[in-house]
Amino acid sequence: MNNNRFEGSRLLILDFGSQYTQLIARRVRELNVYCEIHPYNHLPDEIDSYDAVILSGSPYSVRSEEALHPDLSAIRGKKPLLAVCYGAQYLAHFSGGEVAPSAIREYGRANLSYIKAGEPLFEGIATGSQVWMSHSDTIKVLPTGGVCLASTADVVNAAYRIEGEPTYAIQFHPEVSHSTDGKQLLANFLFKIAGFTPNWTADNFVEMTITALREQVGRDKVVLGLSGGVDSTVAAVLLNKAIGEQLHCIFVNNGLLRKGEFESVLLQYEGMGLNVKGVDASARFLSALAGITDPEAKRKAIGKTFIEVFDDEAHKISDVKWLGQGTIYPDVIESLSVKGPSATIKSHHNVGGLPDYMKLKVVEPLRMLFKDEVRRVGRSLGIDAELLGRHPFPGPGLAIRILGDITAEKVAVLQEVDAIFIGNLKSTGLYDKVWQAGAILLPIQSVGVMGDERTYEKVVALRAVESVDGMTADWVDLPHAFLQKVSNEIINKVKGVNRVVYDISSKPPATIEWE
Ligand code: XMP
Repeated sequence: MNNNRFEGSRLLILDFGSQYTQLIARRVRELNVYCEIHPYNHLPDEIDSYDAVILSGSPYSVRSEEALHPDLSAIRGKKPLLAVCYGAQYLAHFSGGEVAPSAIREYGRANLSYIKAGEPLFEGIATGSQVWMSHSDTIKVLPTGGVCLASTADVVNAAYRIEGEPTYAIQFHPEVSHSTDGKQLLANFLFKIAGFTPNWTADNFVEMTITALREQVGRDKVVLGLSGGVDSTVAAVLLNKAIGEQLHCIFVNNGLLRKGEFESVLLQYEGMGLNVKGVDASARFLSALAGITDPEAKRKAIGKTFIEVFDDEAHKISDVKWLGQGTIYPDVIESLSVKGPSATIKSHHNVGGLPDYMKLKVVEPLRMLFKDEVRRVGRSLGIDAELLGRHPFPGPGLAIRILGDITAEKVAVLQEVDAIFIGNLKSTGLYDKVWQAGAILLPIQSVGVMGDERTYEKVVALRAVESVDGMTADWVDLPHAFLQKVSNEIINKVKGVNRVVYDISSKPPATIEWE
């Protein structure tokens, strides 16, 4: 879909740099409406192709010298507009209203004490409804033509509209789950005010993307690296549906995958009808890693070796024109920043991260999807639920879970330990309740006793976390009986390990991986 436009209802979200902007987009997509986020100072060229606009919040104050004020003349009054938080203050401040510092900074929960009757934006929402506030300025005087729609005990103008135009503004954040009717309010804006049709569905996406990929790629060949993860798999299946055997997939065994994973995932890929070549480069990776202990140096050695192996394989396929990638929307959004009045474009490792010598064009069928949408599309494509529900697994694999240098023996020990831990999580139904789990091989030995013998063997740590996106994480309080069973099984079955510990650190300050 790179250059192809979704032809259903389209919403534009202008980002003023709020931490919640992506959340607005996710809520809108959950309502089956297509939306795009663009930085406030880079209005997309074809503004007429959007049917409505949402202005996001911002860390700035409209009263400061740095206040962000884009020219909205192509939007305001011409399209349905919903301004959130900073957006609401922006509309007031620059259109005859007054924004002043709040007597108290308003953060957290509040309740709507007044809602104007008969307003479509508040249909189905009653007074008392909880909303989430996060602002230190308040709208004292509404802009010209402003009509107050809702208030809280502390904020008189918690929502307003502008008479004679489809322009609405709210001080609170409907996208945050603490705003209990936030989704209803967004639905009211989209369906009752902007007249949208909820046509952004996984099935529509698949149908549209297959047509678009055929147009984009034509009769060319595409090469794509499969990792066993959700994104590359869904990207490959979509491309396969669009161009069949013109897609050449490469699945590299770096020798740092989970026990038996290379073989089983390769079989799964073949079962899906993918044109895939499995390349066992374990020895090459292990020799590139020999003696390296520094975590970043490990990552670099693995990254470099991967590119070499992939490049060697890609060159064996004649006349390849495209590189397929599983880039998803958060990576794309991250590559555009809203820092200050001028838009700075920073490069991101997943966006256009192509070695120069591989002169291939990039095709990214998932670049407009959030992670949960990738899973939904995967389901609609009939991809196995187990594969779609897989925990994230880092590209450098077990290398960053073996502290210190890496040897084939250490990898084999950790694979056994990890297989027991993950196997038990699956057999007890705990796997799907955990966001990510794995085992870590520590670079220390400890004394133990087995039978009459004294042992001096390795220690492993187990880690299981809950998270939404890996940015923050909490350790999971796994049942003690479960931990006891796993610990016994590891010590009894894995030669060379005599002690198991459980990691009870949250992120921050600890990271999920130990390296
Ligand atoms: P941390 O350890 O930073 O991990 O809390 C957050 C998430 O990122 C994964 N991770 C990586 N993924 N290459 C990857 O592809 C890496 O070098 C890497 N390091 C960490 C980690 O597994 C977790 O899901």
